[in-house]
Amino acid sequence: MTKLRIGVLGTGGIATERHIPAFKHVKEAEITAVMDVNAERAKETAEKFGIKHVCKSLDDMLGKIDALLITTPNKFHAPAAVQALNAGVHVMCEKPMALNTKECEEMVAAAEKSGKVLLIAYHWRFMKESRAAKRLIDSGEIGQPLVIRIKSMRRRKVPGWGVFTNRDLQGGGALIDYGCHLLDLAMWLTGSPKPYEVSGTTFNHLSMQKDMVNEWGTINPSTFEVEDHATAFIRLENGAVVMLETSWAANIPKDEETISISGTKGGIEVFPLRVNKAENGVLINSDIAWIPEEKPFAILQAEHFVSCCFGESTPMSSPEESMYVSSIIESVYESAKIGNSVRIR
Ligand SMILES: NC(=O)c1ccc[n+]([C@@H]2O[C@H](COP(=O)([O-])OP(=O)(O)OC[C@H]3O[C@@H](n4cnc5c(N)ncnc54)[C@H](O)[C@@H]3O)[C@@H](O)[C@H]2O)c1
Repeated sequence: MTKLRIGVLGTGGIATERHIPAFKHVKEAEITAVMDVNAERAKETAEKFGIKHVCKSLDDMLGKIDALLITTPNKFHAPAAVQALNAGVHVMCEKPMALNTKECEEMVAAAEKSGKVLLIAYHWRFMKESRAAKRLIDSGEIGQPLVIRIKSMRRRKVPGWGVFTNRDLQGGGALIDYGCHLLDLAMWLTGSPKPYEVSGTTFNHLSMQKDMVNEWGTINPSTFEVEDHATAFIRLENGAVVMLETSWAANIPKDEETISISGTKGGIEVFPLRVNKAENGVLINSDIAWIPEEKPFAILQAEHFVSCCFGESTPMSSPEESMYVSSIIESVYESAKIGNSVRIR
């Protein structure tokens, strides 16, 4: 069998610590090329993982591969994806899909035109709790989802490395980097309804304090350009609502990553997974005692992408779904700026 030849654009933390090791477990694929604007880093990565080609440009790499993994800062996701899709190359791109909805639309159009796979790496969908929650919700366990509560909260963990606090390169802070994961997951769990109105706020008061106490390195207020905390109320076209809070740096007792969904028949909490119902005149809270052991989420994601490229599976995350997540994020930022709610086109 001919292996899928994958190229990696951007050989930083997420590429070398998650994706390249994960793809090593997929026998139908091989990472055959890397490219990074930091040529030394690309060379080191190629040596460490035994990768054949170190390319000088994306253009050069596209001629040598069947699929591209994009693991650059967010600003380069859309242009690289569009270029690759136009060249007939499948794309798996790190989250968020892009900086804004317009860029996402360009990516969706390029994917449609080329007929190639475009998968955004929202890996929380591959976690065993997420997949079990999806099975429970799809089987009607909680009825129709009405109210979705998302908390994606870190106490004092602003990334003190990389470019995460650079607005130009990343497009925003805690929400676009971290909150996007549970937002995407919650939307998927509830059937990917379209959002239509968003009211949001953003804050950066903690990170602008001199000598902010931070577990993940030192933050320089003079170069901190993004939000460290965001809240949002999101109306969905099917009548349900989302209440979202996300933070890199909140004054809370401990970190919290939860989704709680109230439906017409029951409720569900993910992380840990629990179902709450009323039956036979009593209230029941059911803890899930066991979830089948699956492979690590990064390997499941890599296998899924390769399977999609070979036409054996349909992407579990469609480009349109990822675009809705980006539309919500963009609208939260806009709403925070104007101090009013924002209609999504
Ligand atoms: N899914 C997750 O949990 C998760 C976690 C961390 C990062 N990410 C995402 O992964 C992406 C990269 O994050 P990271 O932590 O690896 O950052 P990083 O800074 O460690 O690595 C980014 C790499 O891209 C290179 N680069 C920059 N511009 C480039 C360009 N135009 N062409 C080629 N290479 C370029 C940099 O030199 C660097 O080596 C971001 O989009 C981020 O949001 C996702």
